[in-house]
Amino acid sequence: MEGQRLKYNFPENFWWGAATSGPQSEGRFNKKHRNVFDYWYDIEPSEFFDEVGPNIASNFYNSYKSDLKMMKSIGFNSFRTSIQWTRLIKDFETLEVDYDGVNFYNSVIDECIKNEMTPVMNLHHFDLPIELYEKYSGWESKYVVELFAKFARKAFELFGDRVKYWTTFNEPIVIVQGQYIGEFHYPKIVDGKKAMQVAFNLNLASARAIEEFRKVEHNKDGKIGIILNLTPAYPRSNSKEDLLAADYANKFHNELFLDPAVLGKFPDGIEETLKNDGVLWEATSEELNIIKSNKVDFLGVNYYQPIRVKARESEFDYSNGWFPDKYFEAYEMPGRRMNPHRGWEIYPEAIYDIAINIKDNYGNIPWYISENGMGVQNEERFLNAEGVIEDDYRIDFITEHLQFLHKGIEEGSSCFGYHLWTPIDCWSWINAYRNRYGFISLDLKTQKKTIKKSGYWFKEVTENNGF
Ligand code: GAL
Repeated sequence: MEGQRLKYNFPENFWWGAATSGPQSEGRFNKKHRNVFDYWYDIEPSEFFDEVGPNIASNFYNSYKSDLKMMKSIGFNSFRTSIQWTRLIKDFETLEVDYDGVNFYNSVIDECIKNEMTPVMNLHHFDLPIELYEKYSGWESKYVVELFAKFARKAFELFGDRVKYWTTFNEPIVIVQGQYIGEFHYPKIVDGKKAMQVAFNLNLASARAIEEFRKVEHNKDGKIGIILNLTPAYPRSNSKEDLLAADYANKFHNELFLDPAVLGKFPDGIEETLKNDGVLWEATSEELNIIKSNKVDFLGVNYYQPIRVKARESEFDYSNGWFPDKYFEAYEMPGRRMNPHRGWEIYPEAIYDIAINIKDNYGNIPWYISENGMGVQNEERFLNAEGVIEDDYRIDFITEHLQFLHKGIEEGSSCFGYHLWTPIDCWSWINAYRNRYGFISLDLKTQKKTIKKSGYWFKEVTENNGF
């Protein structure tokens, strides 16, 4: 393609790569503690698709060297994974480390650098140690916030000499929704008031980790951010009521974490609303100050799907107490494009809207797409004679999203990269291995990993820095 004019050219040094997480790729090998998902699988394996749990996952603990080489071979210049609290730390209170965990993460980081891929390390990907839930009620407790800040500090001290991009949390709103509203993360509590306290505590935990980051000398040339799944809320119509519903949905789904992380404060009006409803979190002025003074350096945006809402048509049902959707209702827009495998709408235009929103309302903070992707079931259907999965639908999906991202960048949004979810098919919580997302397929029985058509295509995109 050399010499050929590219239509979509991306900025210099643009990040091309993909993301996974410790609990979804490593397997539980040599781990001394269990996180909430490890524990849940041990007590209720039938809750997981095909009863497949996180025990082996994609075997990254054992195969990281060849896995990282494979990623490099399809053009990655950057890669995100996470450090598991339950692997790194032996004693959560004294911070005694587990040397096997330290060696493992050291080696993963060194291997990334050897392969010329910038490592991006996240500190929490839904993997709260179960002991901290049992002893202290997990994220409901400010003591756990402090333990997290200590763990983060330890990770910065151990690895910050080589890791220059850190993120505190992946999709903290999903912890709130999964653990305290929608029952898809253990301990499956249904309690809107607790959910709001947890939302506050997670914001505080992120800010506390950032505060610790800035105290460690060798992090001075490093940057720290947060990964948020942004789901722009679009109203059914332009009626006053629908617009208000969308505004509430944006506040609860997006701005609840975006505003504190980037602007250092909660979205306008949310504290009043929660106070009037009797569900406002407990927060001291000192804690609010910590949030105010410890904003992120950059933002990772996971984008999969938008949400569509309308003003409530039915009376809100209080039988389980208060929930944010008191203020809006899901709207099934006729004719919306769906990914039938995942039940998610496909709407690439939203990436442009996100780009412009960040530019106009969030000081044009540097940001990247930290996850985007398409989960598809039974991809073996698309195997060709050479044993390669021909996932043209994924190529189309990425292309369309990159086109809208490009438009946002052309208009001045400071996006510096694109990561797919995920490099190698990995374990997806209760969906386990139902939907596959990777550039590289995984045969669960043999652990054989094979580059898909999209992987070869991506390599070309990265070599041309566009398409
Ligand atoms: C994201 C999450 C990932 C992965 C992905 C695909 O929301 O960050 O951990 O599970 O969804 O299901």
